[in-house]
Amino acid sequence: MDTVLSGIRSTGNLHLGNYFGALRNFIRMQDENRCYFFIADIHSLTTHPDPKELHENVKNVLVDYLAAGIDPEKSVIYIQSDVPETIELYLYLNMHAYMGELAKTSSFKEKARKQPENVNAGLLTYPTLMAADILIHNADKVPVGKDQEQHLEMTRKFARRFNNFYGVEYFKEPVAYNFGEELIKIPGLDGSGKMGKSEGNAIYLKDSPKEIEKKVKRALTDSGPTEPNSIKPDYIENLFTIMRVVSTPDVLQHYETKWNTCEIRYGDLKKQLAEDIIKVTSPIRERILEIEKNDVYLRKVTKEGAEKARESALKTITDVREIVGFKKF
Ligand code: TRP
Repeated sequence: MDTVLSGIRSTGNLHLGNYFGALRNFIRMQDENRCYFFIADIHSLTTHPDPKELHENVKNVLVDYLAAGIDPEKSVIYIQSDVPETIELYLYLNMHAYMGELAKTSSFKEKARKQPENVNAGLLTYPTLMAADILIHNADKVPVGKDQEQHLEMTRKFARRFNNFYGVEYFKEPVAYNFGEELIKIPGLDGSGKMGKSEGNAIYLKDSPKEIEKKVKRALTDSGPTEPNSIKPDYIENLFTIMRVVSTPDVLQHYETKWNTCEIRYGDLKKQLAEDIIKVTSPIRERILEIEKNDVYLRKVTKEGAEKARESALKTITDVREIVGFKKF
């Protein structure tokens, strides 16, 4: 059985794009692997969040995960800052991570451009902390999106370098978890390619039916096709893409035909689309509303998760201390 580790930044509520992109697959992944899901609250410090908001953000992600079906009976769910062994490994890995390679990481360059007033060392060493997250459990596989592939590549490099330097075969080189199918990318409702929090075009799992209706109603459309069987502009194709994952094949076919015969009424399509999105999100939303007020449950989940994660982490860090040459007198 493979060990799989998945990390998510604690930046707020999860949306439809997160759900269809990864979350839905995570639920299946739990049955076939030993899974660790953690919330990267230490990583989030690189952008200096308000302490008053940090905890709320962690809670939101945790609640959304649990509500969507990440199961603490099957998987280890924990908060990164509850496992300080990670930070110790991060420090050792940093001794073998070089300025030059860290400075030329794409994510670092992008952040440095976006926040020139706060190019801190934590930002520079973001990839070593991520490597520590993965290597602390000696994970075999990590589900990553395109934007994280370089970090995973660096993790392999750090693992290899550690092994070579100390003459051991201790760390495995983790590979990307392959879901066996193209991940569905959910577009935004504003004609943009991707649904995202920072893009401001997201439908959240926690949105009420009213909010969903409002958001879908606002989606960009036009006066409709004038030629039969014409190619859809991106913003219309986007609505069909969402429909493809939330609606039945019949419904989809109905609107495809209406499009092709130039009889499409966007008002009807949007009404149907909103209804079908609500069908997917409502059961999750109901669980969110229940779980978020259940502090006892959340405390239990995070406490047990931390205990299990630390058990695995402590084993690794004890070995690593010995490998680097620390000895007791
Ligand atoms: N960097 C990841 C992101 O931005 C989050 C993350 C932190 C992570 N540590 C990880 C992902 C370890 C996978 C494994 O999405």
